[in-house]
Amino acid sequence: MFKEINWLKDKALLAPLAGISNLPFRMIARSFGCSLAFTEMISANGLIRKSERTLDYLKTSAEDIPLGVQIFGAEPEVMAQAARIVEGCGAALIDINMGCPVRKVIKAGAGADLMRDPVRAADIIRAVKKAVSVEVTVKIRSGWSLNSINAIDFARIAEDCGAAAIIIHARTYDQGFSGKADWSVIAGVKKAVGIPVIGNGDICSPRDALKMREETSCDAVMVGRGTLGDPWIFKGIQQLFSGAGEEYLPTLSQRHEIINAHWKMETEFSGQKIADKSFRKHLLWYTKGLPGSSRFRQVASIMTDRQAMMDELDRFFQSVDQLATEILP
Ligand SMILES: Cc1cc2nc3c(=O)[nH]c(=O)nc-3n(C[C@H](O)[C@H](O)[C@H](O)COP(=O)(O)O)c2cc1C
Repeated sequence: MFKEINWLKDKALLAPLAGISNLPFRMIARSFGCSLAFTEMISANGLIRKSERTLDYLKTSAEDIPLGVQIFGAEPEVMAQAARIVEGCGAALIDINMGCPVRKVIKAGAGADLMRDPVRAADIIRAVKKAVSVEVTVKIRSGWSLNSINAIDFARIAEDCGAAAIIIHARTYDQGFSGKADWSVIAGVKKAVGIPVIGNGDICSPRDALKMREETSCDAVMVGRGTLGDPWIFKGIQQLFSGAGEEYLPTLSQRHEIINAHWKMETEFSGQKIADKSFRKHLLWYTKGLPGSSRFRQVASIMTDRQAMMDELDRFFQSVDQLATEILP
């Protein structure tokens, strides 16, 4: 599949999301038509040290395909070794993180720091590319700062070093996650390179995805925060991209079922104790914006007992359902 020139055309991808894009979340996203899902960024150093916690991020399943595994690091040889480990674990594609703004990562010369060091970045891409036979992509930002936007030069370097595609989060390092993503940078990169370009930043709805595709001519879109509590965004994007329909919204009972299915998967994956803690954030995202959700969210955020939390969720959905029937003619 990845050998075709346009393997990414009109696809919607799940972004690497630290603490979020684990196997259960990827499977939920895939169930709504996400075409390619990424693990969170994984430390190349941790991988080659065989740290158990790091190797946990590679947990996958036969249905979790195609899988993109993202690695980060600053040393070409370490990145190459890590890439070999990742390839052996079933990754269809390896992405190199050149956009992470976390201080510890930057201090180590990895993530977005590489945008200030194109020579080292090129060495890393070449080393990883040489080490594996799966495709290698690079996820970059627009540049280090608004005064030093270099995504176009960077994308050209990545292409020359053998990258199969460029993913661009259209913000600079010093913007972090605030301010607006400048999609014109994605359009510029698309014009400058021959490999597929995946646009990322501020897609909060299927309409945003369509708008990004129209404004930038990007081959595919990648969605991060827009999937939180809204994994069905992929179905809406697919429908809009194919011209087959409008935005998709699950009914209340479908939403309730999705939450329960996700929670169950999370429990099987992490064990009940960890799942109950980590799933709380998903409960808050899934219920955001629903009528009467603020009370539920307040209660859910302090509850520790699983059964009580599930009962509260059932009660909440009953009350929303009742409210909806009262409001509707
Ligand atoms: C909680 C969180 C974790 C993230 N983790 C990663 C990561 O591991 N690797 C990465 O390249 N980007 C990571 N990102 C950045 C996203 O992949 C994406 O580039 C960014 O959020 C912009 O896209 P969005 O506006 O669709 O969210 C993370 C973002 C968030 C909010």
